[in-house]
This record gives sequence, structure tokens and C-alpha cells, in this order.
Amino acid sequence: MKILAIETSCDETAASVVENGVKVLSNVVATSAQIHIATGGIIPENAARLQVEYIISIIQKSLVDAFPNDKNIKSQISNIDALAVTYGPGLVGSLLVGVETAKTLSMIWHKPLIPINHLVAHIYANWIDTDKRKEMSDKRRRSVKSYLPHTKHQPPTFPAIALVVSGGHTDFVLMRDHGQVKWLGGTRDDAAGECFDKCARLLDLPYPGGPSISAEAAKYEIGPARIVTQSVAGGNTKYEMKLFPRPMINSNDLDFSFSGLKTAVYNHLQIEHKNISRAQIAAEVQEAIVDVLVKKSIDAMEKYKPKSFLLSGGVAANKRLREKFINETQNRQLELSLHIPVPSLCTDNAAVIASCAYFNNSPIPWKEIAVNPQLEIAS
Ligand code: KG4
Ligand code: ZN
Repeated sequence: MKILAIETSCDETAASVVENGVKVLSNVVATSAQIHIATGGIIPENAARLQVEYIISIIQKSLVDAFPNDKNIKSQISNIDALAVTYGPGLVGSLLVGVETAKTLSMIWHKPLIPINHLVAHIYANWIDTDKRKEMSDKRRRSVKSYLPHTKHQPPTFPAIALVVSGGHTDFVLMRDHGQVKWLGGTRDDAAGECFDKCARLLDLPYPGGPSISAEAAKYEIGPARIVTQSVAGGNTKYEMKLFPRPMINSNDLDFSFSGLKTAVYNHLQIEHKNISRAQIAAEVQEAIVDVLVKKSIDAMEKYKPKSFLLSGGVAANKRLREKFINETQNRQLELSLHIPVPSLCTDNAAVIASCAYFNNSPIPWKEIAVNPQLEIAS
């Protein structure tokens, strides 16, 4: 079954064709991020206007890429079995562009339309089979099997716990099966991605903040303080990066709070610290966020003992977070498989929307589909 999916929840305009939920035939993403750099963040009205500008050519390209030997648009469309679209959460203007386009195509092409929750879809990056994976040549026997971008693809098994870390959400969910998503905990204020973005602004680093903090932090790690790249969350640290707090790290639940961390960075910047570089502050911010995400995830693994743990969302593209997840889970005797998608499937794209639609195939008549900007992960 081939699904053409559309994703326009924020500042990415994306369309993708995926076969049977796992095989990506095309994955086209246009981002207006460069334009939002000038304003230091997204102005929703601008993002929606750019969605309108990009949407048709992105859908057209996704069909051309998916069926390169088929030059005829009508026959490309005839290969599509269903359409899927993100209906929330997100920016209302951006969501409307994707949803109204999908509804129109559903009507004129006579194809079923599957409305998809963007947050749940992020988790499906772990079901997608990415090319060029090689069997991990790890001779050591480990209790944690890691299905990482460089290993042979294995679909997750249930029950699974997923951590969705994106720009607006930080949530743990328990999945007993496809379509059975139970919320376990999440942020009480800012999301981890939001914290990256706001701290980047405080540090005068460009939008989006996650990748720019990560790049700035890398300058510190390759400098004289190289040893700080050692593990912090699990001890064994020669030098601890502890300039900022790890909010709620020992709160004994699966909730987060990142707004205090942002305030701590703000307060720190009010005082002149001649010997602390911007690169060090970026590394310290990154380390604090990563420490909390990893520690809480280990708590969730130990408490629920799932068969799989699934990392997802834009922040999951963070190199330091990925590295620490692998180290910390492999250091413990946990009987589970850790799944981390390739970075391009962590950030917003439509392939995850198509995959989610395949495994949760519940089409709705196009007239009944409406955007829901406040949609929650388990609703
Ligand atoms: O999932 P996503 O692409 O969009 C939303 O659904 O929100 O996540 C965007 C968030 C932004 O806050 C961005 O700064 C963050 O993911 N992000 C990263 C990295 N790449 C994107 N955060 C840390 N490190 C990265 N490499
Ligand atoms: Zn997202």
C-alpha cells in the first residue's frame, strides 16, 4: 500500500510517498527556517504564507521522485492508495494549508484521507527502514540491542516506551500496540526544543536553536576541555559540566521542567564571566538538557521494562543526546532494544506521517476533517 502524506504543522512544507509504512519512495522537505532567522524565530503568519507558496510544488516533486520512470502525472497519482495529512498540533495557519490541500486532493482524486497526529507520527520514524544500514560489528555481547541508524533495521516490538522531544513537546508515552498510546509524563512548562531555541536566542545564536547550540558546543568540546565530553549522567566523569541545574532530575516521576534552566542561563549572562566562553555555555546548556532527558528515560525503562525504547522528535537529532543514550543504556543491564532514527527522520518530515497512517489506517470523509492546533499526544 502506497500512501502520499502531507506535513505542514510548522515551518516545514513536506510531502512523501511511503510503501507499507516502512519503505520511503520519496521524502521532500522545504523549510522556511532561513527566513525566520531574520526575525529570530517563527512569525506564524509568515510561516503560513510560505506554506502556501511551497505546497503544490512539494507534492508534485514527491510524486515525481517516488515514480521516476512514470512521466505521466495521472499514472503517478493512480499508484497512490491513500492520502494522509497532519491535522495537529501546530500553528493553525500552517496546518490549514496542508489540511485544506489534502482535502481537495482527496475529493478530486477519489482517495481515502487519513488524519494524523503529528506527535504520534514522530514516533514512527522508528518503523521506517532507512537505506545503507550495515550490521553493527560489535563483538561485545550487550543486553541492550541498539537499532541505530548504522545497524540493520528491525521494527520495534511492543510494549514500547517512546520519548517525543520536539520544539513544542516533551512527552513519554507507553505503546502497547499501534493505536494504543498512553501518556506517562511530560514537561510542565517549556519543551526541551523550546529550551534549546530560547537559550540560543540568549546566546545570540541563530534559529533554530538546537542545531546552533550543538554546533557552538562542539567548538568547546574540541578545545582544551575535551574531557568534558565524558559521561555525566551516569558518573565516571573526570570533569563535570554543572554550570546549570538539571531541573527535576530526581523528582521520581516522568515529568520535566525546562523553564528554570532558561532563567538560569539568563541570570548567568547578566553577570560578566570573562573566563567562560559562549561555546562553554552552549555545551553546558546542552549537557544539562541531555542529562535530564537521559536520566528520566532510564527511570522509565527501569520502571516499565518495555521491550523497546523509541527516541523521536527534532531534539533526537542532537548528536550528544544520541551518544549519551547509547552509552547510558548499554552500561545498564536492561533487556530492551533502543531505537534511534536517522537525524533527517527526527526533524519534521512527511515520511513519518505516511508511516503512521499505514499502521493506524483510519480514513475519515474529507468533509469531517478539521485542524486541531492544541491536539495532545494521547487524545
Ligand atoms: O520535531 P521538530 O522538527 O518540530 C516540532 O515538531 O517542533 O523539532 C524542532 C525542535 C527545535 O526546537 C529545534 O531547535 C530542535 O528540534 N532541534 C535540535 C536539533 N535539531 C533540531 N535540538 C538539539 N539538537 C539538534 N541537532
Ligand atoms: Zn515535529
